[in-house]
Amino acid sequence: MSAQNGIKRVTVPEIRARKGGEPIVSLTAYSAYSARIADSYCDFLLVGDSVGMVVHGYDSTLPVTVDMMILHGQAVVRGSKHALVVVDMPFGSYEKSPEQAFSNASRMMSETGCGAVKLEGGAEMAKTVRFLARRGIPVMGHIGLMPQYVNSFGGFKTQGRRQSDWPRIESDAAAIAEAGAFALVLEGIVEPLAAKITHDLFIPTIGIGASNQCDGQILVMEDMLGFGDSVAKFVRRYSNLEQQYGEAIKHYADDVKARTFPGPNETYAKLDE
Ligand code: KIV
Repeated sequence: MSAQNGIKRVTVPEIRARKGGEPIVSLTAYSAYSARIADSYCDFLLVGDSVGMVVHGYDSTLPVTVDMMILHGQAVVRGSKHALVVVDMPFGSYEKSPEQAFSNASRMMSETGCGAVKLEGGAEMAKTVRFLARRGIPVMGHIGLMPQYVNSFGGFKTQGRRQSDWPRIESDAAAIAEAGAFALVLEGIVEPLAAKITHDLFIPTIGIGASNQCDGQILVMEDMLGFGDSVAKFVRRYSNLEQQYGEAIKHYADDVKARTFPGPNETYAKLDE
C-alpha cells in the first residue's frame, strides 16, 4: 500500500506480487460515484476506453480521446481511496512512437493522479512498453480480443479458437511481459490458451472472457450490473439495474403527473417568521 494524504492505495508492485496468489478483483469505473461504490472491493479500477461506448454512446472505442480519458480518470481518482487506478491509453495516443506514448501517458498520469496506464497490443508494442516502464510509467498490457483493432479483426471476435493462432498470441504475451508490463489483460481468449499463457507468464493475467484460469478478473461494471440489452457470453449479470432504473423513473413520472410529487415532506411550506 502507498500512503497519499494518509490514505492507503494498492500499489503496482502489490498487484504484480499477486501472481498465482489470491485472485485479483477489478472492474471498470468512469465516474466518482461508481468508483466510490466499487473501491473497497476492488484491487484496481480501470478507467477503460470502453467509456466511449458505455457512457458516450459510440459504436467502438476508436473516437475516445486523451482528454476524455483524463476527465474520467480524474473523477475515478477523486472517488476512490483504496484501489489502484489504471487509465486506458486511447486509440491513436501511443502507436506512433514510444515518445508519443510517453508524452500522452505522462500527461494522463500527472493530470489524473492514476497509478498506471493500460495499452492494447502484442509484440509490436513491446518497445513502447519498455520505454514507458523504464521511465516511471507502469504499464498493464492487453492482448487477445483488442477492441481498438476491431476494424482489423472484422468485429469483436474470440481469439485462439484455431490452435494455429496460439504461437502468435503466446509470443505477444511473452513480449509484453518481458518488456516490463506489471500485468496483462487477456480478453476473449479460449480457456486452454488463457490457462497456458497464465501458467507460462511471470506476471499476473487479468481475464475478461478468458476463463477462471487467469490470476484475476475484470468486467465492465455496467455489464455486470445489468445495463444494456445484450452482453457477451462471459458476462454474469449480478443485478438488473437497468430495469430498476426504468421502474423508478416511471414511478417518478407517474407521481409528477398525479401531483403526488413533491408531497408535504418534500416541500418548503413555511415562510420566515
Ligand atoms: O476498456 C475497457 O473496459 C477494457 C476492459 C474490457 C479490459 O479494456
